[in-house]
Amino acid sequence: MCRDSKLVKHASGSDNWRMTDHNTPSPLCHLDELPLHGSKGFLHQGQALFAVRQGEQVFVYENNCPHRGVPLEWVPDQFLDSSGRLIQCATHGALFLPESGECVAGPCVGQSLRQFPCYISHDQLWVG
Ligand code: FES
Repeated sequence: MCRDSKLVKHASGSDNWRMTDHNTPSPLCHLDELPLHGSKGFLHQGQALFAVRQGEQVFVYENNCPHRGVPLEWVPDQFLDSSGRLIQCATHGALFLPESGECVAGPCVGQSLRQFPCYISHDQLWVG
């Protein structure tokens, strides 16, 4: 989860969050580009990522479904279900919690999306 001016590591404490060999934070987008309850996809340093915003909280994940290893969205920047509260894979409908990336419904229940650490500084979303 990203909060203003705080760097938050992956909750698991694993090194799954490493985006590159160097962990230098880099800007992903301006916060205004993320709707309050919306999502946006990015190709960042050669890696497909997406950000999900739930009010003041923002989360960044790799755009890769743990079920089949395919991108989650079928419409650009549409990673949420119709409620806007859960991440949804367009291929088989798996649902994931925005806060943790854990799959809570569908064919990969119990597996998780790969989360990246992020933070917000000067209205800019940073990852790394
Ligand atoms: S590929 Fe995502 S649920 Fe099957």
